[in-house]
Amino acid sequence: MNVTFDYDKLATAYAAHRTPYGGLLGALIRRAHEKDAVLELGCGSANHLLRIAEATSARCVGLDSSVGMLGQARARGGERIELVHSDATATSLPPASFGLIYSVDVIHHVREVHAYFAEVARLLQPGGLVCTVTDSEEMIRSREALSGYFPGTVPFELGRYHAFPVLREAEQSAGLTPTATEQYSEPWQITDTQLFQDKAYSCLHGITEAEHRRGVEAMKEALRRGPIEGRRRSCALWAVKPNE
Ligand SMILES: C[S@@+](CC[C@H](N)C(=O)[O-])C[C@H]1O[C@@H](n2cnc3c(N)ncnc32)[C@H](O)[C@@H]1O
Repeated sequence: MNVTFDYDKLATAYAAHRTPYGGLLGALIRRAHEKDAVLELGCGSANHLLRIAEATSARCVGLDSSVGMLGQARARGGERIELVHSDATATSLPPASFGLIYSVDVIHHVREVHAYFAEVARLLQPGGLVCTVTDSEEMIRSREALSGYFPGTVPFELGRYHAFPVLREAEQSAGLTPTATEQYSEPWQITDTQLFQDKAYSCLHGITEAEHRRGVEAMKEALRRGPIEGRRRSCALWAVKPNE
């Protein structure tokens, strides 16, 4: 299935349902405390960036290619954050402006990962950190709700997510040094199907309408017996721009 994601159309459902990853947020805030300026690439509705802005005194900039998603970020009270409309692979932001640059669930939308990390390297200050949050193949296969109830999302995701070695190679080509790979996990209790009915995950746009309907019905059936217990997991690839 050939799918073009229009985040302008997804923006309302996304902002209504998607929330920050707890463990990841803590790790980002800890690093942001040490930096004077933070950039989120593909900030969407800014659910992570707004929390970092509340918790630290860093200058916080969010960049996204979707006007609709930026509108959602602004509507959430974005006075504390600066918002920029741009493609992450070619921004017009000044060089060496940020001590921390991160993205959450964005890199699978970016085909030109070398251009992406070259731009990150240009924007980072020497000693600055980059954090790329994405899912491994194992994580994609074991998502309780998505792979369990909508199995067609698995091949769809595997077709677009970059394997970790591909991302690490692109970082190194850009002069960045990989440091840690951290996994975060938190309990996730699903009590209703609205998030899935509204297709607030872009992979739900990559399966047929029939499969989507079947998955929602199966979920409703399961929920009659009680909440669906799962875990929300995320994985962060950390790297540093060496000091000159
Ligand atoms: C799954 S959402 C993640 C939003 C946010 N990072 C979060 O954690 O909630 C992906 C976001 O990446 C943005 N995006 C995708 N490709 C992009 C690109 N090349 N440059 C900038 N933003 C991009 C989309 O518009 C969308 O807002």
